Amino acid sequence: MRSTPISDDLRHAAKTFLVRYGGDTFPNLFTSAKGSVVRDDTGREVLDFTSGQMCATIGHNHPAIVEAVNRAGQKAFHMFSGMIPEVIAELAQKLARDWMPAGLTKSMFINTGSESNEAALRMAKMYTDGYEILALGGSWHGITGGVSAVSLASDRKRYGVPVPGVFVIPEPNAYRPYFKGASPEEDALACLEMGLKLFDMQSSGRGAAIIVEPIISAGGVLVPPKSFFAGLRRAADERGMLLIFDEAQTAFGRIGHRTGSDFHGVVPDIMTVSKTLGGGLPLAGVVTTPTIEEDVHAKHYAYYTSHVSDPLLGEVGLAVLRVLAEEGLVERARTMGAYLREALGSLQQRYEAIGDVRGEGLLMGVELVEDRETRRPAHRLGALTTKRCFELGLSMNIRRRPERGSVWRIAPPLTVTHEEIDRGITILDQALRESLDDLSRAQAA
Ligand SMILES: Cc1ncc(COP(=O)(O)O)c(C=O)c1O
Repeated sequence: MRSTPISDDLRHAAKTFLVRYGGDTFPNLFTSAKGSVVRDDTGREVLDFTSGQMCATIGHNHPAIVEAVNRAGQKAFHMFSGMIPEVIAELAQKLARDWMPAGLTKSMFINTGSESNEAALRMAKMYTDGYEILALGGSWHGITGGVSAVSLASDRKRYGVPVPGVFVIPEPNAYRPYFKGASPEEDALACLEMGLKLFDMQSSGRGAAIIVEPIISAGGVLVPPKSFFAGLRRAADERGMLLIFDEAQTAFGRIGHRTGSDFHGVVPDIMTVSKTLGGGLPLAGVVTTPTIEEDVHAKHYAYYTSHVSDPLLGEVGLAVLRVLAEEGLVERARTMGAYLREALGSLQQRYEAIGDVRGEGLLMGVELVEDRETRRPAHRLGALTTKRCFELGLSMNIRRRPERGSVWRIAPPLTVTHEEIDRGITILDQALRESLDDLSRAQAA
């Protein structure tokens, strides 16, 4: 389908008037989104296998969210931060009763994942009177000052001095283990031991927190073993540090469990939630224990922003949680995830270039390699297939930092249908075949 004069004009406006904020943008503009599908300015429909920015777990523009926004329009979108809206109290109660692991009962609601982690780190620093933070290689906790310092998969150069006190635990990667010849679990535990040894050597004795994603998503959809998280729990306790789980992507069903904490069987001291709670609207939360909340409150903990506790987002969060329960989406992530994994597995059998298929529930990673022997990342193939997929009607994300391999990240809404997965796989198949043909033609020329 061709673009219209109006869309040409707006594409020109986008080029002329917008700041480019990083990442690749498509040449088209986009007009609407519904369920698993987004529509561009030519009227073309594209399957959205990234759920927007991994947020729209209940599908884009679910009627319950539209209704929640309308309801807030009748009541209130926003209030003074000292006025706690009823719906915010209700959301905190819902989280504590139905969604959080035992003990995490105190919540605060803000807007973005970055902010939730800033708020958590401030809380941990105040509670422990420390400042040192241990993070994992390949992590992504956000873009703002404090959390960009603990985001090791992000662009860190040329932004000035990062917040001091950050230490790194090498990330366990079962496909590319740091410790050659070790089993995935041995490698993960060796990474932990190494990171802790180096930290203990360098620490000034002012440890505040360990922050970790239950599945290291931007780092290549890496799933460390459960024993690794149990080890982190012990390491934090032994050092008087808090354990923070950043569940921006993993909470509320994405991986087929209520949370990553449930999945790993480890309870953190603070859990941050964001993307998957707002279902596409900017809602994030920090959840902790009454003991920690009481302690930092007594020390005058502050994190008031313009939109803390906004009633609009309270309505939206409650709607998302209601839909997840009513439509059985946590279980659905498991069954549809198994269906997707099997389909990706059969692609893997046919393509040498698919080195690894991993993930949990509907958060999947597919690593592309030049050959299975050397496991050299297939960066050009990754870029070509992603582009071709989009031309054929499928949007999915490729992680291709030189040090992180070339990994498709596939995370459709939990409402995705069998037919949509089949369509996505057919497109992936065609895109892969054509891109490999293109590459071998280019090589032969
Ligand atoms: C695990 C994780 N934490 C935090 C963030 C930051 O969230 P936001 O972009 O909403 O600030 C992201 C964003 O991609 C994320 O994946």
